[in-house]
Amino acid sequence: MSPFHLTRTLPEDATEAALRADVLHGLTATPKTLPPKWFYDAHGSELFEKITELPEYYPTRAEREILVSRAADIAAATGARTLVELGSGSSDKTRHLLDAFGGLRLYVPVDVSESALTQAGRALVAERPGLSVHALIADFTARLELPDTPGPRLLVFLGGTIGNLLPAERAAFLSSVRALLAPGDALLLGTDLVKDEEVLVRAYDDAAGVTAAFNRNVLAVVNRELGADFEPGAFDHVALWDAEREWIEMRLRSRTEQTVKIPGLDLAVEFAAGEELRTEVSAKFRQEGVWAELAAAGLRPAHWWTDGEGRFALSLSVVP
Ligand code: AVJ
Repeated sequence: MSPFHLTRTLPEDATEAALRADVLHGLTATPKTLPPKWFYDAHGSELFEKITELPEYYPTRAEREILVSRAADIAAATGARTLVELGSGSSDKTRHLLDAFGGLRLYVPVDVSESALTQAGRALVAERPGLSVHALIADFTARLELPDTPGPRLLVFLGGTIGNLLPAERAAFLSSVRALLAPGDALLLGTDLVKDEEVLVRAYDDAAGVTAAFNRNVLAVVNRELGADFEPGAFDHVALWDAEREWIEMRLRSRTEQTVKIPGLDLAVEFAAGEELRTEVSAKFRQEGVWAELAAAGLRPAHWWTDGEGRFALSLSVVP
């Protein structure tokens, strides 16, 4: 068997159908919303990579610090032979884990981006003789099936992306993850932590305006895919902290009263001056909350590791 293998679990047109449904539903709702997954076309993914290098955006560096210092502990605690990664993207941070796993035979990156999977997968098998990569084109927020792989398995979900799901979606997601795993398998989960409001808001409203461009890019995606006539410059970037729900929200605020046409949906959407469209929730966590959510999904929390400044956490839980 070739060491690099790609499986498509999504029909070619599934992405467009999902975008249409999300835009129709979100832009006819009150208040208006769009799910954050549509930020990540090629340009949006580039902007996100730039965000991870901004001085204000600490989560990527904090998580990398934990991975580097704890990779050996993670390998020892799990003894995994298969590493499954949801939302693997460039697989960049995962290299720290792959380095630490002596007995690892198989890496299963799961992502919606075929180009990211192919690029990362081919590079990895070239770098690492003995490692097979079985990439899956799949949407991990939908129903997921994994190939039959050698256990024990370690499933990793990094970047704090679980925070982009709403509480009910998180519960459903963790239960579906639990259902994919067998006794003795483990979940490594990255979660950004509650901290000072100013630090949080600055991470989502940087001085250089990269996050603002990232936020507005979702309008360009809808324009391109559905023929809409959004004027991205007619919306202001907004990042705010919801202290009660302990999440950051990104919004786009219409500067004026305007009507946007979306021919692909046969829809016209009216915005009042100052009306806000919610484009992302990014929840921040505390250990007690993460523990409770893991336990509710039938997982047993085993380790909690943070960076030196206590900004971000990696938790390891196991299937009893
Ligand atoms: C890394 C995908 C979880 O919520 O922090 C970065 C994306 N949004 N800046 C996050 C993001 C705005 C991000 N995730």
